[in-house]
Amino acid sequence: MLVDRPSGQRAWRLLPLLLLFAAWKAGSGQLHYSVLEESKHGTFVGRIAQDLGLELAELVPRLFRLTSKGLGDLLEVNLQNGILFVNGRIDREELCGRSAECSIHLEVIVDRPLQVFHVEVEVKDINDNPPVFSVSEQKLSIPESRQLDSRFPLEGASDADVGENAVLTYRLSPNEFFILDIINKKDKGKFPVLVLEKMLDREENPQLQLLLTATDGGKPEYTGTVTLLILVLDANDNAPMCDRSVYEVKMYENSANQTLVIWLNASDADEGINKEMIYSFSALVPSSVRKKFLMNEKTGEIRVNDAIDFEESNTYEIHVDVTDKGNLPMVGHCTVLVEILDENDNSPEVVITSLALPVREDAQVGTVIALISVSDRDSGISGQVTCSLTPQVPFKLVSTFKNYYSLVLDSALDREKTPELNLLLTAVDGGKPELTGTVRLFIHVLDINDNDPEFEQSEYKVRLMENAAKETFVIKLNATDRDEGVNGEVTYSLMSVKPNGKLLFTLDENSGEVRVNGTLDYEENKFYEIEVQATDKGNPPMAGHCTVWVEILDANDNAPEVTVTSLSLPVREDTLPSTVIALISVSDPDSGANGQVICSLTSNVPFKIMSTFKNYYSLVLDSLTLLLYTALRCSAPPREGACGPAKPALVCSSAVGSWSCSQQRRQRVCSGEGAPKADLMAFSPSLPPSLDREVEGERQEAGLNYPGQC
Ligand SMILES: *[C@@H]1O[C@H](CO)[C@@H](O)[C@H](O)[C@H]1NC(C)=O
Ligand SMILES: *[C@@H]1O[C@H](CO)[C@@H](O)[C@H](O)[C@H]1NC(C)=O
Ligand SMILES: *[C@@H]1O[C@H](CO)[C@@H](O)[C@H](O)[C@H]1NC(C)=O
Ligand SMILES: *[C@@H]1O[C@H](CO)[C@@H](O)[C@H](O)[C@H]1NC(C)=O
Repeated sequence: MLVDRPSGQRAWRLLPLLLLFAAWKAGSGQLHYSVLEESKHGTFVGRIAQDLGLELAELVPRLFRLTSKGLGDLLEVNLQNGILFVNGRIDREELCGRSAECSIHLEVIVDRPLQVFHVEVEVKDINDNPPVFSVSEQKLSIPESRQLDSRFPLEGASDADVGENAVLTYRLSPNEFFILDIINKKDKGKFPVLVLEKMLDREENPQLQLLLTATDGGKPEYTGTVTLLILVLDANDNAPMCDRSVYEVKMYENSANQTLVIWLNASDADEGINKEMIYSFSALVPSSVRKKFLMNEKTGEIRVNDAIDFEESNTYEIHVDVTDKGNLPMVGHCTVLVEILDENDNSPEVVITSLALPVREDAQVGTVIALISVSDRDSGISGQVTCSLTPQVPFKLVSTFKNYYSLVLDSALDREKTPELNLLLTAVDGGKPELTGTVRLFIHVLDINDNDPEFEQSEYKVRLMENAAKETFVIKLNATDRDEGVNGEVTYSLMSVKPNGKLLFTLDENSGEVRVNGTLDYEENKFYEIEVQATDKGNPPMAGHCTVWVEILDANDNAPEVTVTSLSLPVREDTLPSTVIALISVSDPDSGANGQVICSLTSNVPFKIMSTFKNYYSLVLDSLTLLLYTALRCSAPPREGACGPAKPALVCSSAVGSWSCSQQRRQRVCSGEGAPKADLMAFSPSLPPSLDREVEGERQEAGLNYPGQC
């Protein structure tokens, strides 16, 4: 073939030549025409009759006819003018498909004589077919990770036309990622290839829609398009990201277990498992912090998992890793700063740092007893402590420095009033509710010998019978001393006994018992004044005093005493009755009833006595003057037992006994002879039996001081 392929334009210029050539070929016995496909009905193809050398007039008579195998009557001859024309629609592509040569073979037959001519009508292609893609949309899945210059072959278009009309050029809609490369495959046309020119990013453009246009070489040209749907496949090229790099959270201490601290929401721009995330504590997080918080690795919730104590730590720094599940996992980081807020959950603590005990009773006001420090682990106002002391104690708190105090003696101590003090130190913080800390301080006051022994009374009065025996109990003295220990232990001593000196009484130094140590005589001394001192064993010792007044009671230990104070002797025989012969006074040193004397005369004497005044009597001549005379005349001591029965005697008696007066001076002259002894001073007790014993020992010589010569 003369036709050269590459240039369509040149082919068109050669077309007239082609027609000439067709005519020329007819000469060789075979006519050759050409007609453009899709020509209109009636389109002139060739002067077939003429060209075959047939007369127009003979066409009909010779039964000119045209056959074409199986093609019907696409071409027809006008028998009038012998012109071959287009009679039906000639579609080259239908007739010949994609073969480059396409002809309709006509057989022309005329009878008389029968002649057969072969006519070739070449059907020329016109550009009546656009390039066609097999699908309207081509899908390509391209990983975003593909490198630049990666190539992705595309299915090309096809064009039913032939020749230039089927020569396709491709064009890609403008985009930044791909360019088009065309591969010429020998005899098999051109194939478009996508070439990656800029990295894809699924996260930015998850899919791209491009338009690939194929244009044929016809005139006018036809185009065909296909949509290229490029699905960008995810690569794990994005790390999970928190929406902030640092989160600040505030929470109170003592938050309940499982309290939500923060809910992290990281995101990952990738897809599928590449965006599935796991939250975890970073390796930077120390175990002490891990212990406190629990990380939900799926949801990103961080919760309290242990006691949160402000005093233990007031901030926590939690570094979090968020890791995706991609093949090559990527990790994002963020930090949660947890600030713990203080609650008043610590009581103030009171500590006694130094203590000087016991405290002496005589300690000076201002003496420091104890040093105290208070503390509170809370912060701010919850940690501010004020300290106070039990009211009404002789101590005060003096602040020496912030949170340091001295416990100082504020007023004088008196162990005897308050031997020990129970102090309560109270520290209160400023929190809400306030918390309190206390400490008890037990202070023992050390005794000083500052109290005298004291008797219950300063004077005691005791009565004692004069005839009390030695060792007779007089009184038990008891002095008390308010001091403690030896300072309060008391011994007694006898300081003085008036008027007779100390020997009459004894005092037991430990028991305080006073006893008799000698003979007491009422008639000699009726009162004793005993000075007693009680002394404690302190150093220096202290003393107290008392006086014991001992009143001696009379015992009837004295016989009445009869004294003839005046006597008119001799008595004349003719003395008249009622003449006073003598005046007699009677006395008894005993007191009370013991000293009351009643006198009487022995019977059968011519005298009688008349009481003139208390204890004074007159002896009056009664009738037996002579007898009295005789009685009173006796001048010399009579012989023993020679006392006559009728001798007058004065008998005086007191409650406890009676005495009689005779001319004898001593009672003991009379012995136990049968005769009455009325002439003697004889004691005849008339005491009740109970007094017998006492009286027995004290029976005394009782004598009449008889001044006369009786
Ligand atoms: C995370 O998401 C949850 C649920 O939507 C929300 O309650 C929480 O406040 C979010 N966390 C942050 C730190 O924004
Ligand atoms: C807090 O709760 C978790 C889960 O119930 C438990 O394992 C942990 O021991 C609790 N912590 C405390 C301090 O009670
Ligand atoms: C002394 O008196 C005190 C106080 O009245 C008393 O307790 C104590 O027993 C007495 N002592 C003696 C030895 O009687
Ligand atoms: C008691 O009396 C006796 C004899 O009169 C005397 O020797 C003694 O010292 C007295 N005792 C006291 C403690 O005075």
